[in-house]
Amino acid sequence: MEARITLLPGDGIGPEIVAEAKRVLDTIAEKYSHQFETPSCPMGGNAIDEFGDPLPPQTLETCKASQAILLGAVGGPKWDDPSAKTRPEAGLLQIRKELGLFANLRPIKPYSELLDASPLKREIIEGTDILFFRELTGGIYFGESGRMEHPDGEKAFSVMTYTTSEIARIVRLAAESARNRGGKLTSVDKANVLEVSRLWRQVAADVVKNEFPDIEYEVVLVDAMAMHLISRPSDFDVVVTGNMFGDILTDEGSMLPGSLGLLPSASLGESGPGLYEPIHGSAPDIAGQGIANPLATILATAMLLRHSLQLETEAKAVESAVDRVLAAGHRTADIAAGGNPISTSEMGSFVLQELLA
Ligand code: NAI
Ligand code: MG
Repeated sequence: MEARITLLPGDGIGPEIVAEAKRVLDTIAEKYSHQFETPSCPMGGNAIDEFGDPLPPQTLETCKASQAILLGAVGGPKWDDPSAKTRPEAGLLQIRKELGLFANLRPIKPYSELLDASPLKREIIEGTDILFFRELTGGIYFGESGRMEHPDGEKAFSVMTYTTSEIARIVRLAAESARNRGGKLTSVDKANVLEVSRLWRQVAADVVKNEFPDIEYEVVLVDAMAMHLISRPSDFDVVVTGNMFGDILTDEGSMLPGSLGLLPSASLGESGPGLYEPIHGSAPDIAGQGIANPLATILATAMLLRHSLQLETEAKAVESAVDRVLAAGHRTADIAAGGNPISTSEMGSFVLQELLA
């Protein structure tokens, strides 16, 4: 197939880790006879320096004209000046909005070789493989908010709203994924208290009943979910929830594997390109040293192949190459636990070697 995949290396370690992901894309293209065009565009702090704009119009145009976007990370102390007119993160928010990226996907899959890095006991974490779908463009973060005078001092409010179609479209994506994985769908809400959650629960149940009667489905209250995620994470498969609950639960979930450097994420819209990135930031403390772990970005590349290009075989090939590299004991500094760490590009090379094996 032919596809344009726009690279947004960003700041800090971004360019180092995206370079390794690009080598993976090139290798996949060669091995499976695809033509991937991979233009690289400025975005974030580097784009502020060069163009005074974290998301230059040219970058946005290139992104819109591609099948998928791979982002490293943006930001760093250089651009943290509170008096600055614009911040690198503004570029990220703008691109999500421009592309209508309403679904944030985060897999939580601890690697058995690295389980000792998890704060949880091996018996609890073993077998965990969760895919979170967090609604990203609605809910309380985008609802009406404000302050008013009040006899006590002030009163403030932030309103959580969801419409039928906002709920249905994310539940549909999650349910499709549960079906493809042959797994269960869990919808998380707070329907015992919130009216907006009662609508969520009703719409989710309708979508599942009418369009996905074949999948296993359950609902869990968000406070209970916070406990279950730690006490029995391996019982969950695909989890769908609103913006704020998802924000909190995915951060909780990201601690299960014990290493940030291994977790990818995807943000998808109704149509058009998806955005893929590691969940970690630009790690300015180790930037430029060639020691960052590229695996989260490489695993984000696997998600890109799966969700935006429908190349499931290629996605699995990348994931299993990463599995084998870890099983062989290759470790960058963040996961080496005092052992003998390898560099960013050495790690990339081991993945390529497994891909071609
Ligand atoms: P961070 O995730 O960049 O770093 C936290 C710690 O984890 C650091 O010690 C770092 O060295 C380490 N780390 C992160 N990724 C790693 C990797 N691939 N390999 C090895 N070690 C890794 O979070 P922090 O320090 O809070 O933020 C740094 C900058 O990144 C800030 O400017 C922040 O705003 C930005 N950021 C950007 C995000 C994005 O672009 N989506 C997300 C989160 C933060
Ligand atoms: Mg968060």
